[in-house]
Amino acid sequence: MTELAVKTPQLLANAAYLVAGVLFILALRGLSSQETARRGNTYGVVGMLIAIAATLSLNLSGTHPLVAVAIVVAAVLGATMALRVGMTAMPEMVALLHSFVGLAAVLVGFSLQVAPSAPPLAERIEVFIDVWIGAITTTGSVIAFLKLRGSVSGRPLLLPARHFLNLAMLIASIVLGALYASGGATWSLGAGTAIASVLGVHLVVAIGGADMPVVVSMLNSYSGWTAAAAGFMLQNDLLIITGALVGSSGAILSYIMCRAMNRSIWNVIFGGFGAAPPKAAAGAAKPAGDVQEIDAATLAARLRASRSVIIVPGYGMAVARAQHAVRELTEVLRAAGVVVRFAIHPVAGRLPGHMNVLLAEASVPYDIVLEMDEINADFPSTDVAIVIGANDIVNPAAEDDPSSPIAGMPVLQVWKSHLVIVNKRSRAAGYAGIDNPLFYKPVTRMLFGDAKDAIEKVVAAFKAEASSKAAS
Ligand code: TAP
Repeated sequence: MTELAVKTPQLLANAAYLVAGVLFILALRGLSSQETARRGNTYGVVGMLIAIAATLSLNLSGTHPLVAVAIVVAAVLGATMALRVGMTAMPEMVALLHSFVGLAAVLVGFSLQVAPSAPPLAERIEVFIDVWIGAITTTGSVIAFLKLRGSVSGRPLLLPARHFLNLAMLIASIVLGALYASGGATWSLGAGTAIASVLGVHLVVAIGGADMPVVVSMLNSYSGWTAAAAGFMLQNDLLIITGALVGSSGAILSYIMCRAMNRSIWNVIFGGFGAAPPKAAAGAAKPAGDVQEIDAATLAARLRASRSVIIVPGYGMAVARAQHAVRELTEVLRAAGVVVRFAIHPVAGRLPGHMNVLLAEASVPYDIVLEMDEINADFPSTDVAIVIGANDIVNPAAEDDPSSPIAGMPVLQVWKSHLVIVNKRSRAAGYAGIDNPLFYKPVTRMLFGDAKDAIEKVVAAFKAEASSKAAS
């Protein structure tokens, strides 16, 4: 065989990897806006299919039939999980999937270690780093999954001297890594993995529920870096590119979310947020007074008399699957000449973009869905703000009460509108577990009930009023 004939499969695979890499970049770009998200997803799927086909084509002769079986089983499992998962359970699923990436990296690392030809020094360093980050990602993601499911308490578990414990585990890992790199046996790699696994658990159990979104995004980033490290071990350029893309985009998302919650990333990782009930600041009073209620018919009449409405959706809208009722409300209001817009908080719901996805699914026009920074200044000139199943993201304590656990977190200033409607089932707290003085403000009226039922009733009342007016 000529040299060219030998090299051709690798050259073709490299070209395919390049195409897949470009498709992954286009996928990330597409996912940055809801108008292009579907296209972005398609790019990602096509890129992944090309990547798998190119990788398999290089190893066709040596590919074990079990690999084909594994691919089919994994594809069926993945598709079933994705079809069955509810939008509210999506963060759990993402956390679980990160643990698979971490576990895959650990297994690849160990498989190289036990291969007949032991890895050379540079490769040993790569193996140790890959296995170490992979183990942290695996156990950390499993704990995040259990916390998000509610199987493990959302409260942070803070062991005494926890920072010292983390430091001790880090130092022990560095020593074991050096031992392994300088020719140590499999036990040093195993011990490093065990320590990293404990560290992953310890880091994530110490983080409170309210910071879980950032943790999931950080674990996403870790899983990317693990994949990149695996790419170095396996000398697979595409894995390096893909891992770096996932690693850096996860890190950027974590940073954006921390900024939205006004928290530093270090404070999230080591802070133990939510450990103790919030201390009352000197002179700070618990929200006092009675709430004022409103019924669907009265609200419909108020809405008819309004010119501008801002709808603020939150986690409760997702739970109640109320997005279609909300879209219908939007349609009837707009048909009556009311300007309707949506205000989306960066951490509304339980995952980044949660509300955008639900509104897009219900065919709410994209151009009336605005981010917090674009719309927050418009509340003072708004007739009615309708908060649907949201709580923490509209809590004025974030601005007014320095002792609040969410103090400093930017919130949607709905209380500056002429009238605020808060729809939820009770006065219960939201995700952060804290009271919300918004419910007791003179400008607020509570519309109690399940979001879907309540909004459907408002739509019906609005339509009934319109037809009775037309008849008279
Ligand atoms: P929350 O503060 O969790 O408030 C949601 C409210 O919805 C609850 O107070 C609940 O009150 C109400 N609700 C539940 N089911 C309902 C139903 N069927 N109909 C009507 N209302 C219902 O949500 P939020 O304002 O969207 O804030 C998000 C919170 O989650 C933040 O603290 C954020 O940090 C955290 N978080 C965010 C993410 C991301 S990335 N978005 C991920 C994880 C956690 P009732 O029980 O009284 O009805």
